[in-house]
Amino acid sequence: MPVDRIKKQKGEKIKVLTVFGTRPEAIKMCPLARLLDADPRFEPKVLVTAQHRELLDSVLDIFRVTPDYDLNLMRQGQTLAQITSGVIEGVYNILGEYTPDIVLVHGDTTTSFAAALAAFYRKVAVGHVEAGLRTWDRYSPFPEEMNRTLTGRLATLHFSPTEDSRENLAREGITENVYVTGNTALDAFAYTVSEDYTFKSEALQNLPRRGDREKLVVLTAHRRENLDGGIASVCRAVKRLAGSHPELRFVYPMHPNPAVRGAVLPVLSDIENVTLCEPVDVTDMHNLLARAWLCLTDSGGLQEEAPSFGLPVLLLRSETERPEAVRAGTVEVVGTDENNVVAAVERLLFDRERYERMSSAKNPYGDGHASERISDIIYRYFTEDA
Ligand code: UD1
Ligand code: UDP
Repeated sequence: MPVDRIKKQKGEKIKVLTVFGTRPEAIKMCPLARLLDADPRFEPKVLVTAQHRELLDSVLDIFRVTPDYDLNLMRQGQTLAQITSGVIEGVYNILGEYTPDIVLVHGDTTTSFAAALAAFYRKVAVGHVEAGLRTWDRYSPFPEEMNRTLTGRLATLHFSPTEDSRENLAREGITENVYVTGNTALDAFAYTVSEDYTFKSEALQNLPRRGDREKLVVLTAHRRENLDGGIASVCRAVKRLAGSHPELRFVYPMHPNPAVRGAVLPVLSDIENVTLCEPVDVTDMHNLLARAWLCLTDSGGLQEEAPSFGLPVLLLRSETERPEAVRAGTVEVVGTDENNVVAAVERLLFDRERYERMSSAKNPYGDGHASERISDIIYRYFTEDA
């Protein structure tokens, strides 16, 4: 047996430490944390790094997850080096006083990579949720492509959302303990989506509905590689579209990063059919996706969620690690060039068949039961003979 796989006797609980730090990790890990908590086979704990603070706390409140450990790391304008060193040291220290059988991390943030490295230093097994996404370009998305590649090297159990991501790991020689589970992003809907939902955010009152003449467009952008001109260029495109198509109603919940707001506010403030607002909580967001006509985004998670609501996505990046959604026809990679963004939105406005195709595809990211598969695999790993 490997040093990080200690076989459990019948009835002995498996100790799982779930670690996350940013909004998207929290949204995708809370359903799993809740499931583990309710399962008598496990003795789970949750550690948050708080790489994000208010964005994270809002998700914890909604899922009613109370962390056992909170590193409270967020600083305004934090550097990657500060986050990385803070997470390694903080997680390493906690693993000195509490030794789980496995540490679970998610995706591609700096929290995920640094926590996985700390667990490796303590010779604790790492389970990687949302394993195997790749663009094969180390600087795009930056630093996420490297974070997830390195996390993949450190992990013992790999929970890939799709066959594509399993194949990516195989290309890197990672073939053992790789499981296709679906994406836990879809598990979250059981906690957030309801019919006849009433929005909490002031900014989301009196929105158009699907089928209305007015069309709701949800916009988000925050990626580091888009801070250098990309977001500003998209905003100029939105300004043009808002002017020439008054029936479009844009809503942009802005990421709190001051660099994002610095790019958005000078271009998009005070336009009648563009609402700029604070980030909305995840229940508001998911129900907003259900109402919207179109999503413009550079987000990872939104590419996975939008197809469940029949919502086309124009992706404000030059490539994606989520080719399944492009193949399914729900996501179109558009980039951040002003003219390309305008043209892509107008194609959907004027070409009804194109819009119907994009909005009627099936979500390729799972069935909302990924967390159950993941917990069963962890159980088997620690109870069955190697
Ligand atoms: C991080 C992740 C990125 C993920 C994104 C999700 C890394 C390197 N980046 O990027 O992969 O897509 O989260 O949103 O792991 N801030 C606040 N309050 C918050 C959160 C952020 O004020 O609750 C501000 C702070 O000024 C902070 C800045 O946003 O310094 C950037 O946060 P950071 O976590 O460093 O990067 P993100 O761009 O959020
Ligand atoms: N989201 C949210 N409120 C917002 C913007 C996004 O709840 O104002 C949710 C969104 O539904 C998805 C996740 O946050 O579940 C995506 O986070 P983000 O785009 O910050 O990160 P990424 O997925 O790109 O890593």
